[in-house]
This record gives sequence, structure tokens and C-alpha cells, in this order.
Amino acid sequence: MCPASHINDLLKEPVLDLDVEVRGWVHRTRSSGKIVFDVLRDATGIIQVTIKKGNLPDMEFESAQMSHIESSVIVRGRMFKDDRAPGGYEIRASSFTLVGTSAPYPITEYQSEELLLDNRHLWIRSREQTAIMKVKASLMKGARDWLNSNEFYEVTPPIFTQNACEGGVTLFKLKYFDDQAFLSQSAQMYLEALIFSLEKVYAITPSFRAEKSRTTRHLTEFWHLELEEAWTDSKLNMEIQENLVSAMVAKAVEERSEELKLLGRDVADLKEIVPPFKRVTYAQMIDRLKQKEFEIEWGADLGAAEERAVTEDEKVPTFVTNFPRECKAFYMKEDPDDPKTVKCADLLAPEGYGEIIGGSERETDLAKLLERLEANNIPTEAYQWYLDLRKFGSVPHSGFGLGVERVVRWVCKLEHIRDAVPFPRTVARVYP
Ligand code: 4AD
Ligand code: MG
Repeated sequence: MCPASHINDLLKEPVLDLDVEVRGWVHRTRSSGKIVFDVLRDATGIIQVTIKKGNLPDMEFESAQMSHIESSVIVRGRMFKDDRAPGGYEIRASSFTLVGTSAPYPITEYQSEELLLDNRHLWIRSREQTAIMKVKASLMKGARDWLNSNEFYEVTPPIFTQNACEGGVTLFKLKYFDDQAFLSQSAQMYLEALIFSLEKVYAITPSFRAEKSRTTRHLTEFWHLELEEAWTDSKLNMEIQENLVSAMVAKAVEERSEELKLLGRDVADLKEIVPPFKRVTYAQMIDRLKQKEFEIEWGADLGAAEERAVTEDEKVPTFVTNFPRECKAFYMKEDPDDPKTVKCADLLAPEGYGEIIGGSERETDLAKLLERLEANNIPTEAYQWYLDLRKFGSVPHSGFGLGVERVVRWVCKLEHIRDAVPFPRTVARVYP
């Protein structure tokens, strides 16, 4: 018996002189008496199959007639060129095995967003969702390849924590036996501890934020790629980010141009994502916003609308540096050249997609750190271990956190971030 092939391998290198076998799911089906026309789907692509009574045992023909959408099947037969078929070929079946029957599929062509979300476990089989997941896998592969070849160690920080790295408002609290703990918002503080043994570290973990607002760019659980490096200032930190993001995008272009096209993304746009990215200060951003008639003054944080306004016409990402320290977390280093600001950078995606990375050089001055904790009303008990890092051989260091789904949303041109993750968790949904 011939071994089963993947559909795309057959379409790339058609086998015309031998029987072929494919395994997959019925994507579309219609029947006209003595012929069943199926489109089969596997993880790699789709192919047309015609099953004609008389060319195979009657029982198998009846199985084909009974195979509804999403039935799992194994088909054997000959490949023929057919310009009308998707991919240019069809298989004429000489054998048809129904492996798993399918109940009437709840998803038809026009469905409400809610129904698709309720049936997410089935909807992820759609071509669009499949394409997004493949692009995401390539982006993450591109990241790991770049990080590993630049000698960063992948480390495994905890998810249970007692620290509020990014402030108390968005913490998920939980009972931890007789104590209280939180789900991690960021691995940063643990990565800072790990640079004293490994110098260059990264982690890819879920992060949790109890975001109550319904926006198109917030999940309550997202995948966070975080990096921390000893002996690194804010300038070098940005260079690492632009190289990393460019390598991620390049891998997606290399491996997934078909999927990107299906999602409506022109890969020519992505080929422009190469270092250096743009750099502007927060103060310059405020000036630009004022020119665009925004009522905003120095000291206010930038929201989605502001980020969109200044990046919608951009082709490459933009770093916004030197935010007022009141806008940012306690751990960011004061800029000695402009002490009302901190040595931080938010990286904004082009075309108005907004922030994809938050990063900074870290405050190493213990007194300043204590002052900042106090100014933010953060009780220091849970931070003693973190403060120790400044007492035992402190070194200048920097790091950042990249929101994986934020990058996927931009690269795949998605309206909503929930489509950048197979099972989205938002304020309104944790099922399925
Ligand atoms: O800017 P943030 O809050 O920075 C930190 O957490 C730092 N401690 C990271 C570090 O330096 N190690 O979050 C980093 C990134 C954001 O730029 C955004 O891309 C993503 O994480 N992010 C979210 N993505 C989806 N849903 C949410 N609710 C997100 N919150 C942050
Ligand atoms: Mg941020």
C-alpha cells in the first residue's frame, strides 16, 4: 500500500503514474447521483476528490455519499490535472474509507461572531484560523532562532508570584494555600535575577492581566516574549528589539507567504521591516499629536487613539523613548540627561496597530528604586528579594517584553487580537 501523502506535497510535486493516498477532513462536499465531489483538507492544504460509482466498491461509494462536512476520511486514487480544481489537480478515488463520521456542522458560511467564538474548538479548523496559527508558529520560530543564535539562554520563570510587576489594578489574585499569590503579569523581575548567572536571558510565558476594558488589543492571557541583558543600556536594548522583530517577520515571509496572502497581507509590506526602525521622543510625539489637533499635554500617557494617529502612515515600527516617569513603572531608570523622564522605549507597530513592545533600562540606584516604590504606594515586603539584586554586584542592564499576539495581529492584519490566539481569554470569555 502506498504511504499517505500530505496534500501540499502532492500539489508541489504531482505523482501521476502511481496511486496516491491522502488523509484528512471533508471541507466541502456535493453529490449528483453517481458522483460525489469532495474537497479534502489536511494540515497542509486542500485538494479536490471525485468519487464515482463503479470505480470503487459500492459500500465505499455509499460511505462517500454519507460523509458530511468535517468527516475524517482516507482516500486513495490517481491524480489528474484539472485547471478548474483548487491547486490545479484532482484525485479520482479508487478507494474511500470513512474514519470518523461528523454530526451536522454548526458553522455555515455566515455566522455571528458570538457563535464562532462559542464554537472556537471547531472554528480553529477554518482556513483563516489555520493560516494565522501557522504564521504565529513561524514568527515564534524566527524569534527563537535569532535569540539562540545570538547566545541568549531560554529560561523558565514562575507563573505564581507575589509581585505586581506592572501595578495592582490588573492583577489576578488567587488563594495560595493559606497565603495569597497572583498570576504573573511579567517575568521581568525573575529575568533580572537570572542575568547575574547567565547575563543574556529570555523567556516565552503566558502573562495575565485582569483587563476589564473591551478593546481590540487586550487579552487577559497573552504570550509574552521577555528578554533581559546585563551590561546593556537603553540604546543597545532598542537595537536588540529591531533585530529580533525583523528576524521574526523575515521568518514568517520566508515560510508563510501563501498564508499571509490569504489573510490579505501584502508580503512586500513585510519585506520593508528591516533595521533601523524609527526613533522619536515622547516630547516630539506630543508635538506631533498637537499638530493633529489632539488635546494632549506633556505628562499624559499615550492611548490607542494617539498611537494610531502617529503611526497609521508609517511603514516600519517606531520607538517612542523618554516617557515622563509618572507614566511608567517603578523600575525604569531615570535619564540623567533629562531626569523628569526615564530611559524607556515603547515600540509601536506601523499602520496604526500600536504598542507591540515595552522596554527600558532598569534603575540600579537602590535609593531611587525605594523612592519610586514609595511614590507608587507599593509595599516593599514582597520586593526584598528584588532589592537584594541591587545590593549584590549590581550592573547596568536592560530588557523588554514583546506581546506575541500583538505582533501576530499586526503581521496578519487582524481586526481583533482575539484572532491571534486559538482560545482567546478576554473579560467576556473563558469558554471553550
Ligand atoms: O508594556 P508592558 O506592560 O511591559 C511589561 O510587562 C514589562 N515588565 C516587560 C519587560 O520589560 N520584561 O507589556 C509588554 C508587552 C506590551 O508591549 C504588549 O505588546 C503586551 O506585552 N501586552 C499585552 N498583550 C495582549 N494583551 C494584554 N492585555 C497585554 N498587555 C501587555
Ligand atoms: Mg507598555
